[in-house]
Amino acid sequence: MKKIIELLESELKAAFEKAGYDKKYAKVTVSNRPDLCQYQCNGALAAAKEYHKAPIQMANEVVGQLAGSDTFQEITAQMPGFINITVSGIFLADYMNKMAEKEGFGCDVSTKQETIVIDYGGANVAKALHVGHLRSATIGESIKRTARYLGYKVIGDAHLGDWGLPIGLIITELRHRQPNLVYFDENYEGEYPEEAPFVIADLEEIYPYASKYSKEHEDYKLEAQEATAELQAGRKGYLALWQHIINVSVADLKRVYGKLNVEFDLWKKESDAQPYIPDMVQGMKDGGYAHIDEGALVVDVKEEADTKEIPPCMILKSNGATLYNTTDLATIVERRKLFNPQKIIYVVDKRQALYFEQVFRCARKTKIIGEDVGLVFIGFGTMNGKDGKPFKTRDGGVLRLESLLADVKKEVVNKMADREMTPSEREEAADKIALAAIKYGDLSNQAAKDYIFDVERFTSFEGNTGPYILYTIVRIKSLMNKLASQGIEVEEGTPILPPDNKSQTDVMLSLSKWSETVETAFAEQAPHKICQFIYELSDAFNKFYHDNKIVTNEDEKVRESYIQLTRLAGRVLEQGIDLLGLSAPEKM
Ligand code: ARG
Repeated sequence: MKKIIELLESELKAAFEKAGYDKKYAKVTVSNRPDLCQYQCNGALAAAKEYHKAPIQMANEVVGQLAGSDTFQEITAQMPGFINITVSGIFLADYMNKMAEKEGFGCDVSTKQETIVIDYGGANVAKALHVGHLRSATIGESIKRTARYLGYKVIGDAHLGDWGLPIGLIITELRHRQPNLVYFDENYEGEYPEEAPFVIADLEEIYPYASKYSKEHEDYKLEAQEATAELQAGRKGYLALWQHIINVSVADLKRVYGKLNVEFDLWKKESDAQPYIPDMVQGMKDGGYAHIDEGALVVDVKEEADTKEIPPCMILKSNGATLYNTTDLATIVERRKLFNPQKIIYVVDKRQALYFEQVFRCARKTKIIGEDVGLVFIGFGTMNGKDGKPFKTRDGGVLRLESLLADVKKEVVNKMADREMTPSEREEAADKIALAAIKYGDLSNQAAKDYIFDVERFTSFEGNTGPYILYTIVRIKSLMNKLASQGIEVEEGTPILPPDNKSQTDVMLSLSKWSETVETAFAEQAPHKICQFIYELSDAFNKFYHDNKIVTNEDEKVRESYIQLTRLAGRVLEQGIDLLGLSAPEKM
């Protein structure tokens, strides 16, 4: 289904040609003076150079060609040569009716051949999710849902950190505390217990303790490094412990991500890429891409055009150990082999931008991936507290994501104190509103920018907030329920009529931007554009709702048309929030 701008452009192209001008000048944009018109074409101004004519004369000639077209309510030439466009009600209503009946509301949601892997979440086993993990989960989930909606085959991968020093630290600390555990007995031949010797709460206590302790005690640190090396070399008892850590952690991560409405298709881990390393390293050596530098194996990745220093990519340390980037490179090999994607998108803190630049360059240079595969880094900014510094707990610690959710939920429950609801309705509403407050507050900012997490503002039921959007949807839902309870039925396919007032026109104009918005948000990996659309539509709808009698309208045709428009706005809004990873309660 064509976009309104495209439809307008094709009419203007024909008019430019009929008037004797090149159709390339018939470019239409949304008006930057909505008080004067809805769309505009500035082509006559641009064409003046080529035709040596006054732009206003040309604009008038073009407009003259369009007299009598049903598309326009008004199309006029304005000094010095603008063409101002206001579309007709018939045209707009017709567009709405088509949107209502098309899958995707006019978005191209046909199945695409392209496969996209999205690497997001950034979680590590044995560590609780904290506020630093929020953005990757939220933004990644939205990009994944948008791509999937548009018909791409999408694989969301959690790519868990499970293979480095943190595991060695936990093993070491466990050995200090419980030296008699069978996992530490090198002569043990039997099966290891199925039950882990710890629960998640233990791990979350052990890891920070061991990490801190190792920073103060050199020999402990060496022990942990040794344990890490032994694990990676395949020591059986350590592998068994590591497997327990993964099982316990993944179960807990799934639970917390579930609360955030974040679902991964794959729970791959850094360790899964390890088997691909030897061949990859060999290939880098054989291809002459890697060389030894002070004992380490490195690949140079700097390029002539660089304005900043890009250090070489280290593949193996001088002791033969692999690094974070060795794993990321091997993961590219693995993904190519398993999924043959056309694109891999990484949603990671922007402080890792240089790192990913090195990894991508190295992957291309060493030919582990072809030029035809896109490697995209979406670096997000920091979530700050009101003081402008990274968000912390009151005593300066890192806030767990679960605690953040609980705090925000409490705030929401307070705000709803006067609502008449059953306890279960209240629970459902509070959970969904809290999530909307957090995720919408995050997603409505451009990903790359830092933002201030302001609980007060984010939980407000007014303004550009998640709760306000949900409120609008709930309002539409309850309007529909009211109709149903009064036995008012509007048959499917009942048309939306041309608008008879401005607020209704505005709802339609907002709705008409849906396909453009979703497609751009995907192309630019910019969920904030979906937020902008949803907010604009919600605002337009609420004005329409205030200014017009919908359910009680005396004119049956008008009433049905208003109801149909309301229904369409509701459907589009619900689809919109689904792309953000949100859903609306029944009541709020
Ligand atoms: N687990 C990593 C961290 O805590 C983030 C992983 C990002 N993804 C990747 N493929 N490197 O920093």
